[in-house]
Amino acid sequence: MCGIFGCVLHEGAHAAPIIHSALKRLEYRGYDSVGEVTIDNDRLTVKKDSGRLEEVHAKYNLDDLPGPVGVGHTRWATHGRPVYENSHPLVDCKSRIAVVHNGIIENYLEIKKELEAKGHTFQSRTDTEVVPHLVEDYLSHGMSLEEAFRKTVNRLEGAYAIVLTSAEQPKTILCARQESPLVLGLGDGEYYCASDFAAFLPLTRKAVLLDEGEMAVLDPKGVKILKLKNAAPVKREAITITWDPESAKKQGFRHFMLKEIHEQAQALRDALRTEQVYYDQFSRKIIEADKVFIVACGTSYHAGLVGSIALAKIAGINARAVIASEFSEEALDLVTSKTVVLAISQSGETMDTLNAVRDAKAKGATILSVLNVLGSTLMRLSTVYIDQNAGPEIGVASTKAFTSQIAVLLRLAATIGRKKGEVSAKEISELENALHKTPALIQSILNTKVEDVKKIAEECDGASSVCFLGRGINVPTALEGRLKLLELSYVPAIAYPAGESKHGFIALIEEGFPVIFVAPNDDTHKRIVGNIMEMKDRGARIISIIEEGDEEIRNLSDRVIEISESLPSLVTPLVYVVPLQLLAYYLSVIKGHDPDYPRNLAKSVTVE
Ligand code: AGP
Repeated sequence: MCGIFGCVLHEGAHAAPIIHSALKRLEYRGYDSVGEVTIDNDRLTVKKDSGRLEEVHAKYNLDDLPGPVGVGHTRWATHGRPVYENSHPLVDCKSRIAVVHNGIIENYLEIKKELEAKGHTFQSRTDTEVVPHLVEDYLSHGMSLEEAFRKTVNRLEGAYAIVLTSAEQPKTILCARQESPLVLGLGDGEYYCASDFAAFLPLTRKAVLLDEGEMAVLDPKGVKILKLKNAAPVKREAITITWDPESAKKQGFRHFMLKEIHEQAQALRDALRTEQVYYDQFSRKIIEADKVFIVACGTSYHAGLVGSIALAKIAGINARAVIASEFSEEALDLVTSKTVVLAISQSGETMDTLNAVRDAKAKGATILSVLNVLGSTLMRLSTVYIDQNAGPEIGVASTKAFTSQIAVLLRLAATIGRKKGEVSAKEISELENALHKTPALIQSILNTKVEDVKKIAEECDGASSVCFLGRGINVPTALEGRLKLLELSYVPAIAYPAGESKHGFIALIEEGFPVIFVAPNDDTHKRIVGNIMEMKDRGARIISIIEEGDEEIRNLSDRVIEISESLPSLVTPLVYVVPLQLLAYYLSVIKGHDPDYPRNLAKSVTVE
């Protein structure tokens, strides 16, 4: 997720400082590099570099760019490390066209090859850079800038919000969106486009929304919206934004955590967009390894547990998940130069995980990683890495990073399973198809189940403890539900494999003790019904996350949250965790805590 801002100001005005302030309001969307471009007469000037906004400003003075028209970008790297060459804006061969982009262009490699064959030279490893060169190519065929831009965007596959400015039409900004957000601001004879309202709220509260598959032309005469597919003009009423700047950053959500829970459908789609080549590289190294360890902490460790079970079940790979801070005691003695360590870390800076990786690397192990921050220490320690593409996760409690990690790990297990033929191709395809259905399923939970979860949260308020139970692939889901609840509500929650609960935990059960079962209708269903009855017979209050239509568990439960579709078991954690995330969030709010900044915790634990 990156931050984009563009403006067309009055003749003689100075765009650069306006862009700089707007980028400051967008930094929460990404901050590993930043850049600005302005047009003065027919000259295009770019200033950009890796590093945070104020660092780059101190180095280059971003306010000292001439001209009333310009575009800025604050980056969250997805393709290409956060270095100067990969920062936006990116330009064409003659530096006459500049583009910034938020999203992922899936077919950029084929377009890049085609343009290189025509003599275009590229300066970056980004997917974005194909855009200015493709526009340049279409312009050379005599097209207008608007037509060349529209034709270019129509060739792109993936998710994008793209903003272009050019010395060919110095008073104009062209922009387009598909899945990634882009909104337009209407000032007094001045016009803006941005990733979200926060960027231009101090300038105007009058906005126009750009819909999927639309482009807009901003110039001193105003804003024109067109359909990308046929250039048909679009009439759209302006709206007035009532948010304050802070809530605009949260896009109207009360906390970043809630916003990030609601971003999961998009984050999953982006997680599933990574090129197959990275999964093939991971697979080769894992299949050749003498041993495979998964190392991580906290929520990422829970994702690793899901990955470990999936690799065993469909790929026949024994990948043991080890809590990173225990790795040196528990597993390091077993590491050889043929061992693979798969590290999972949203931040890529968790010291316990980095220590485990460094220890393993010192013994010659191959380091693979699943991470969400390009340029992080873990990325630099890795032989190969897969970017989760979840966008910045600001809330301390990890949510969208968890589900995107699982999506990556399930796709990895499917890739290896297919190569090794451990399970039928049909079973693998069913898993992959189900994986691609999860964004819509998660969105449906977010659209329809929030009030049910709020009610459960109110009923759990005042409980001295809450227990989460699951079986098989949903033991990690129960562990994650427990972690979310305890780190946000400070209630000493408990989690167990449901079968293990009768070996001790059940002593805690008394009248009204809330026990939450993660209970999809899979191979574990019959046994988990038995566990529910054990708890119910002792007075527990039964809350069950179940598949819609599961009358047996519904009749045993005091409260249920129903998931509308039957899913292959391995995919269920992705979906069944969402009600648990919401439960933790709402219980935290009911207790008057700040879910974004829970006490004693940091977003990234960079100490041992
Ligand atoms: C999860 O909500 C916590 N923020 C914490 O357990 C976190 O998952 C853990 O510190 C690992 O962080 P990482 O993924 O950045 O390595």
